[in-house]
Amino acid sequence: MLECLSCGNKFDAREIERMFFAMEQQLKSTFTSQGQQKDLQYFLYLVQTGSYNKLQQYLKRDWHQKSLEDRSDEEDVTGKIVVITGANAGIGKVIALQMAKRSATVVMACRNLVKAEAVINEIKQTVLNPTLILVKLDLGDLESVRNCAKEIRDKVDHINILINNAGYYGVSNDLQRTKDGFEMNLGTNHLGHVLLTHLLMDLVKKGAPSRIVVVGSLAHENAILNVDDINMEIDTRLGFGNTRPYNNSKLCNMLFAKTLAKRLEGENVNTYTLCPGLVNTDLFAGMPRWQRLAGFSLIMASLGCEPEQSAETILYCALSTKCSQESGRAYRFGRPWKEADENLKDELAEKVWEVSEKLVGITGSPPQKPPSNK
Ligand SMILES: NC(=O)c1ccc[n+]([C@@H]2O[C@H](COP(=O)([O-])OP(=O)(O)OC[C@H]3O[C@@H](n4cnc5c(N)ncnc54)[C@H](OP(=O)(O)O)[C@@H]3O)[C@@H](O)[C@H]2O)c1
Repeated sequence: MLECLSCGNKFDAREIERMFFAMEQQLKSTFTSQGQQKDLQYFLYLVQTGSYNKLQQYLKRDWHQKSLEDRSDEEDVTGKIVVITGANAGIGKVIALQMAKRSATVVMACRNLVKAEAVINEIKQTVLNPTLILVKLDLGDLESVRNCAKEIRDKVDHINILINNAGYYGVSNDLQRTKDGFEMNLGTNHLGHVLLTHLLMDLVKKGAPSRIVVVGSLAHENAILNVDDINMEIDTRLGFGNTRPYNNSKLCNMLFAKTLAKRLEGENVNTYTLCPGLVNTDLFAGMPRWQRLAGFSLIMASLGCEPEQSAETILYCALSTKCSQESGRAYRFGRPWKEADENLKDELAEKVWEVSEKLVGITGSPPQKPPSNK
């Protein structure tokens, strides 16, 4: 039960969630064509994540429960090694600062080294003698991913927490491809991370008990994924607002975390995936001007939250003792996200895993275990 500090009313978080669900069902029965349904779903996605953000600000004792500085229920990460992709901006930058404040050794895997150096300087102004290691990583280039893994291996001999955070939100009118020919969202958000995780897996196992956190998104609910054409070679439809490739990549992120958990059973390495909420970062900078003017900026301004708020769920997954015995589950607003767990189907997850391994040229990553029949 949540209590509003201004009006004193009590709110049941689950009731609010049920309310959203009922509203969604009502609207879906009104808008019946497939096109309308997709547009509606995208709109509801923005409103829903945003509304939670705002609610959480009003209800001070919200479902995040704690501030970034509150370390109760957290495992101590002093001297532990934390690798964060995309640590030079947005949510990743906040995580890097928070981990440095907690005296972890932070490996910042970044594409833009100039921006990363500036972030390092910022962190140094807040934290006394932080241990920060900067490595170059372009997830859209498998060669760079391999070099990055090698650089990390040269610098550390184990990893306690791997946070696959970096993300690209490409919504241009044409399909963009990475150097290796992958659709850009898929290649950057999912495939690059699949290879990086594979190449670092023995270090993560050495750091056990360890955690792998994969940043997903509520956008996964809007995915239209054809697993036989995951790289969009045949079906090149971009969907509403050209968001299909991004939505698909986020679904792949979340399915990856799920399958990874199964493959790592008994290894003392747990995996987590999450949605950070609708967050005011540079992620949407590539959006066409018309889309931003036609409402997105308004939605972001009225409903979006700051990276500091969104970072809580990542910190929860990476550090909380509450979920230290959980693996392969999804989280939102600093708590388990049951609906996503139910949406992420095992069979699809296995297929995406297989296809992804083939695309990045690895097989049997880590360790080879028969998929369960669940
Ligand atoms: N913002 C939201 O509302 C929202 C909602 C749901 C999920 N998410 C997820 O949250 C994560 C963080 O996003 P954010 O909002 O913090 O966005 P952001 O401020 O744009 O940060 C994205 C980070 O990813 C890095 N990146 C992008 N492409 C890369 C590549 N090819 N190789 C290596 N790094 C690359 C960026 O580096 P550069 O500086 O070099 O571009 C940047 O450090 C993403 O996975 C995103 O999908 C965000």
